[in-house]
Amino acid sequence: MSVVAPNVAGPGPGMTEDLERLRADFPILRTRIRGKPLVYFDNAATTQKPRSVIDMERRYYEEWNANIHRGVHWLSEKATHEYEHARDTVCAFLNARSRKEIIYTRGTTEAINLVAQSFARPRLRPGDEVLITAMEHHSNIVPWQMVCQLTGARLRVVPITDDGELVAGEFERSLNERTRIAAIVHVSNALGTINPVRHMVAAAHARDVPVLLDGAQAVAHMPVDVQALDCDFYAFSGHKIFGPTGTGVLYGREELLENMPPYQGGGDMIRTVSFENTTYADLPAKFEAGTPNIAGGIGLGAAIDYVQTVGLQRMAAHEHELLRYATARAREVPGLRVIGQAREKAAVLSFLLNDIHPHDVGTILDSEGIAIRTGHHCAMPIMTRYKIPATARASFAFYNTREEVDRLFVALEIARKVFTR
Ligand code: ALA
Repeated sequence: MSVVAPNVAGPGPGMTEDLERLRADFPILRTRIRGKPLVYFDNAATTQKPRSVIDMERRYYEEWNANIHRGVHWLSEKATHEYEHARDTVCAFLNARSRKEIIYTRGTTEAINLVAQSFARPRLRPGDEVLITAMEHHSNIVPWQMVCQLTGARLRVVPITDDGELVAGEFERSLNERTRIAAIVHVSNALGTINPVRHMVAAAHARDVPVLLDGAQAVAHMPVDVQALDCDFYAFSGHKIFGPTGTGVLYGREELLENMPPYQGGGDMIRTVSFENTTYADLPAKFEAGTPNIAGGIGLGAAIDYVQTVGLQRMAAHEHELLRYATARAREVPGLRVIGQAREKAAVLSFLLNDIHPHDVGTILDSEGIAIRTGHHCAMPIMTRYKIPATARASFAFYNTREEVDRLFVALEIARKVFTR
């Protein structure tokens, strides 16, 4: 597949010298908002897209548009080839053992629902437990609640400390003979906490408990190797890794996926159909009913190619430096309280400024051309834990700069002055 390479030779030690050229890969970053250059600090909600991803989707629609897995004509074969090539790209990116373990979904949410319904539901009995943590996104809470309601199982929640870390030893202590699955967020979207998932998977496996990791906030910020993590399921969304919305992936261990019933029925997931009986297609098709987001899947492959060309280690190091700088600046702002101060953190700065409502902070920042997210971040139990209604959240990506962080703090000073008059 021809991919428009980013403006960089490849992974190297630093990123600062390449930053302007890399930013040029993202057309939207040139936008002016309310007359000011855009500062995009809402990367945990969705990331911006490089030209190579946009071009790849456009190429599909302009040059290869056809349905996949169904046609003998050239266009269908070409579209199928590109779509399946992207699956191979994802497979290598996650270091999965086999392409059969890579299921395309609409995103992390659908991936978790698939595991809840196809893996957990048939196994759960009244009194069984599903173990999650107090820092989960709603997408890793509600699907489990739904399946618990259907089966009589119960949700057990590992608590967190004031700093936003899991209470030491609580995960291990919560595992017991009734635990049927543990579903854990790799990186918290609201707090930035990076959980010690490799250790947690080992602890769960020692009790024969399978583990799903919610990687929505992790894959664009650190290398993920599903074999090294030894997890049973790993879910992520394409749009959080510079790819198209409506795309995502469920990695599942082949032997588990083989023994799970399909999640949805329809075209493309069958081998034979009669009114009496249907037999199912092999993996991964068994879990991919209906015409998928073909352009999106191909675009996701291009996004992963892009990330790999820039280099995840380099991106992570740059983001870490931005977080360190922003956190130090935040300490100097009177009345600013950072929510989430884990020792291992990804580039998320959630905060409150005096008693100004985060939505008001967000509105002032918007008037300065700065996009952040304000609210409960689809993690209402975290807000309840801290007894706050919401936070303002700046979340960084590798294309953000120190100067943009400086602009954030200038705008926060404006907000402070406006609301303390
Ligand atoms: N889960 C996304 C966020 O954290 C939408 O903003």
